[in-house]
Amino acid sequence: MNEEQRIASQQVNQPSTSNTKTEKDYSKYFERVITAPSLKEAKKRGKEEVKYHKDFAIPQEFKGMGEGRKFFIRTYGCQMNEHDSEVMAGIFMELGYDPTDKIEEADAVLLNTCAIRENAENKVFGELGYLMKYKRKNPEMLIGVCGCMSQEESVVNKILTTYQHVDMVFGTHNIHRLPHILKEAYMSKEMVVDVWSKEGDVLENLPKKRNGSIKAWVNIMYGCDKFCTYCIVPYTRGKERSRRPDEIIQEIRELAAHGYQEIMLLGQNVNAYGKDFTDINYRLGDLMDELRKIDIPRIRFTTSHPRDFDDHLIEVLAKGGNLVEHIHLPVQSGSNDVLKIMARKYTREHFFDLVRKIKEAIPNVALTTDIIVGYPNETEEQFQETIDLYREVGFESAFTYIYSPREGTPAAKMVDNVPQEVKKERLHRLNAVVEELSAEALKKYKDAEVEVLVEGTSKKRDDMLAGYTRRNKLVNFAGEKELIGHIVKVKVTDAKAYSLRGEFVEVVKRHEVEV
Ligand code: SAH
Ligand code: SF4
Ligand code: F3S
Repeated sequence: MNEEQRIASQQVNQPSTSNTKTEKDYSKYFERVITAPSLKEAKKRGKEEVKYHKDFAIPQEFKGMGEGRKFFIRTYGCQMNEHDSEVMAGIFMELGYDPTDKIEEADAVLLNTCAIRENAENKVFGELGYLMKYKRKNPEMLIGVCGCMSQEESVVNKILTTYQHVDMVFGTHNIHRLPHILKEAYMSKEMVVDVWSKEGDVLENLPKKRNGSIKAWVNIMYGCDKFCTYCIVPYTRGKERSRRPDEIIQEIRELAAHGYQEIMLLGQNVNAYGKDFTDINYRLGDLMDELRKIDIPRIRFTTSHPRDFDDHLIEVLAKGGNLVEHIHLPVQSGSNDVLKIMARKYTREHFFDLVRKIKEAIPNVALTTDIIVGYPNETEEQFQETIDLYREVGFESAFTYIYSPREGTPAAKMVDNVPQEVKKERLHRLNAVVEELSAEALKKYKDAEVEVLVEGTSKKRDDMLAGYTRRNKLVNFAGEKELIGHIVKVKVTDAKAYSLRGEFVEVVKRHEVEV
């Protein structure tokens, strides 16, 4: 049995991952057994060691399956999901498919979904309804739903009952099985449902078709064991599994050799990196210290959890070089009571302490965050504590959300006395503070010289170039298109509400300017 067959056979033999009750419920739609998800199973955290497979390859029998066919992938989720789409695009292309950006031309359409909030899910159901139109015109078109929503039994149930024009449903743990799933979908008249509730092993060498050649995403770990009470991710992404350092370092070296300028390290809780290694004592700080030595201009990471942010990591980040001075550090709330029922496992005081340590070590650091307002029973005072904390830390930007109950999470069962109107109003007030502080942070750059990685032309004006500074500030300036992909020095002339305007100075040799 070769490695691929072994992995494949493991997938078939995953009885503990499927929920027999769910299967029985679905049996009225299908005569055969389908592998449906179970959030209850997904919640379990086993002690079994993570296995690594280094020599993944698509079996010969599938090659050529996509000759003359086109694929289209729409991604709804976070950067992790975007990166999964790059892997699936890579698999499609190895099968011989060509990419298309027109759904109507596609022979296979995948919706790579996100389950984080209800509105993310509603968008997908809307799109699924819309896809019916294309399917009627081209009944041969295969429609697939994958990503985090597929991991929820209620979603799979809804698709089975209401969206019968869907051909394939698979989850986040078996995207490498795409060739098998496609083949089954071509051969079968029934919907192919293959979702594992339990995470698989760590697979290396999956093909990837990266979006762009300037910035690249690199997974350093998968899953999350934090179980914040509002969050669906630990159920949809499984337990924490870290990639081996040598694999990560090798991948980044290759990207550097191919001319990539910036790496974004990905994980749902990157500060837990290495916690699961049983043979080595190696954490995110150690990894960053190694990556610092790679000849690539910028390395970022997302997302940090304040709880696991250790002193060694701060010490390493303070060394600068290709480690940028921007940290995204979701705080979620400024109230100890709310943090407690969110199970964030830190207090407001601990958070301030962490911020103080980071600022002492990296004085010019830009901190950004995520905040949830309107948590069940959040009081006006508790909300005010969030606003106060935001100001006191001096965050430079934030993603802000109204709490959205996710089925299967503990928070979804909480009685909530905060009316939706109040939640909206709080979001509004918080956003005003976020905007105020973002504008203030930008103003400080007036007349300064900043280092910009030029990513392309400005969204609004084709004659302007756009890129980000090390501290993640968007800069627009006039310049030749040849500058795209280079790091340049720009003199800031104007600070707008969300971006900086400037004048091109010169192309930078690496790390001349530390902004
Ligand atoms: N792993 C990341 C979070 C990924 S989800 C972290 O811990 O930082 C991104 C953000 O979505 C979270 O930080 C949180 O602010 C928000 N979020 C998660 N679940 C949510 C929910 N049920 N309702 C509203 N916002 C939520
Ligand atoms: Fe969700 Fe919390 Fe894990 Fe982030 S750390 S993915 S918010 S459970
Ligand atoms: Fe969404 Fe899944 Fe990412 S729920 S935020 S796509 S991990």
